[in-house]
Amino acid sequence: MIDWQSIDLDVIRQHATATHRKAHGSRPDVLQIRYEGDEAVLKDYTYSDTWFRRLIAPLLVLREVRALKQLNGVTGVPQLYFVYNRYAFLVESVNGVAASQVQKNTLDNEFFERMKKVLDNIHEKGVTHCDLRSAGNTLITPDHQPWLVDFVASIHQSSRWNFVGRWIFDQFVEADYGAVLKLKKRLAPDLLTDDDIDKMEHPRSIAEKIGRKAGRSVRYITRNLFTKKTK
Ligand SMILES: Nc1ncnc2c1ncn2[C@@H]1O[C@H](COP(=O)(O)OP(=O)(O)O)[C@@H](O)[C@H]1O
Ligand SMILES: [Mg+2]
Repeated sequence: MIDWQSIDLDVIRQHATATHRKAHGSRPDVLQIRYEGDEAVLKDYTYSDTWFRRLIAPLLVLREVRALKQLNGVTGVPQLYFVYNRYAFLVESVNGVAASQVQKNTLDNEFFERMKKVLDNIHEKGVTHCDLRSAGNTLITPDHQPWLVDFVASIHQSSRWNFVGRWIFDQFVEADYGAVLKLKKRLAPDLLTDDDIDKMEHPRSIAEKIGRKAGRSVRYITRNLFTKKTK
């Protein structure tokens, strides 16, 4: 296994074999890296918009890195390899296809159960993902294991006496599970049970609706406030 820390960021960038996303506006470069036969993925805001990079990117990197550290060892979450600076970090490469690219009706119930299990595990460790409604953030391996990427909008469980914080966390927990149903509707609508449909149509609590909106707005605010419109 490569000692990624010993390699300069410039050299890492020179070893990109594919671009998952090119930096623009508030988006980072997300690059597939191959170095001496080992694979990794670099997320790097160095070439995002200047003001966004200066003010917001370091906070996003902190937030995502903090979540990945907290979730180290959870199956279905890439391992953090190294943080190069305030803008760039390297993670384990997942050999999978984004759920947004997967053909309809190719997944079975077990896949969705596995995804719920991954969520159970990350919630137990005190992290909610908060951006699973974007299907690009769930990767699916050839043997149908779900992997969650992009923890930039994630939130952490609050201390025991912070009741408001804990309540908010619970809303995002619900929102994460709600995203599994959304994915099921998109990729395997025939598998939706009456209970699933009921949950989607009547979220159990007002809280879940708020959680969903908030999940979107965390990202919306950070993405749009400090960047030039690129479209
Ligand atoms: N660890 C990884 N392994 C393989 N592909 C990845 C990994 N992380 C990200 N990707 C790919 O790069 C895309 C963009 O990464 P993501 O972290 O979601 O960045 P963004 O914040 O720009 O949405 C993902 O949709 C996925 O296709
Ligand atoms: Mg993403």
